[in-house]
Amino acid sequence: DRPLRVALLGCGTVGAEVVRLLHDQAGDLTARIGVPVSLAGIAVRRTGRDRGGLPVDPALFTTDPAALVARPDVDVVVEVIGGIDPVRGWLTAALRAGKSVVTANKALLAEDGAALHEAAAAGDADLYYEAAVAGAIPLLRPLRESLHGDTITRVTGIVNGTTNYVLSAMDSTGAGFAEALERATELGYAEADPTADVEGFDAAAKAAILASLAFHTRVTAADVHREGITEVTAADVASAAELGCTIKLLCLAERVEDAVSVRVYPAMIPRSHPLAGVGGAFNAVFVEAAAAGELMLYGQGAGGAPTASAVLGDLVAVCRNRRAGVRAPSESAYADLSVRPIGET
Ligand code: HSE
Repeated sequence: DRPLRVALLGCGTVGAEVVRLLHDQAGDLTARIGVPVSLAGIAVRRTGRDRGGLPVDPALFTTDPAALVARPDVDVVVEVIGGIDPVRGWLTAALRAGKSVVTANKALLAEDGAALHEAAAAGDADLYYEAAVAGAIPLLRPLRESLHGDTITRVTGIVNGTTNYVLSAMDSTGAGFAEALERATELGYAEADPTADVEGFDAAAKAAILASLAFHTRVTAADVHREGITEVTAADVASAAELGCTIKLLCLAERVEDAVSVRVYPAMIPRSHPLAGVGGAFNAVFVEAAAAGELMLYGQGAGGAPTASAVLGDLVAVCRNRRAGVRAPSESAYADLSVRPIGET
């Protein structure tokens, strides 16, 4: 059996951890998959950059992702660049050519997941994206597999670490929004430009992906009613505390008769609710299902190593599928189109 060859698109915080884990766990991964998995190439913006002793042959770096993806020796494409275009074209080409794709690209999945699923169906290829929502937390596979015999009624989540850090800091220190955000930036939790986080765009993309899986339908980021946390004041947090509540940026997807409502907004939740105790930059998702009842999944939703853990889990799954000559069922095959997204209830 020949080794499986992986094209890695992106070598930033997550990509570098993927390279490290592939190298450090090579023996274990070979044992788990049945054949070795090796890197065919790594697409980056600039070659020749100092990558801090990354255990990788510099000859693997290329600035031409399209050519790398098209190479006949590539079996699997792992994408950790992010953004919608030009990544959409590379991933759809890979899938149509029958290559398995593992991606962490929440923006692309939330904008045009349909195109990726169609390409996967056309190429009879696997499309896995556990790392796109809530980093290390095994969440999408439970939604798309383990809970598939049940009826999910509601998914409530804290899926953005930056805003959870900011709101938790406001709650514990009495700081205002700007001061708490500054602290989050100093500590490296918030990005230099935190707009997508504090305005709720990042959470809305994740909410669309979660709602699509939980309710077997297609929800895009544009279907999600979105409010960020920039208007939350120290006085709001103090008033919530007086009522025994804390403020969290929630993503809420629920079945409302024959529709799905998906919202992202700062909500007051009682301190007795399991999500109230989710502090710092952690994520958690609370799932309610008809037979299972209540479940909560909790963990690190961002960062290089936690996100790479989810990527590697998907990589093992798609490699095993290739070895077995099977692929996961396409989501479009079980789409229940009677359930449509609505903006607000
Ligand atoms: N900016 C995101 C967050 C990163 O703060 O959760 C993970 O998607």
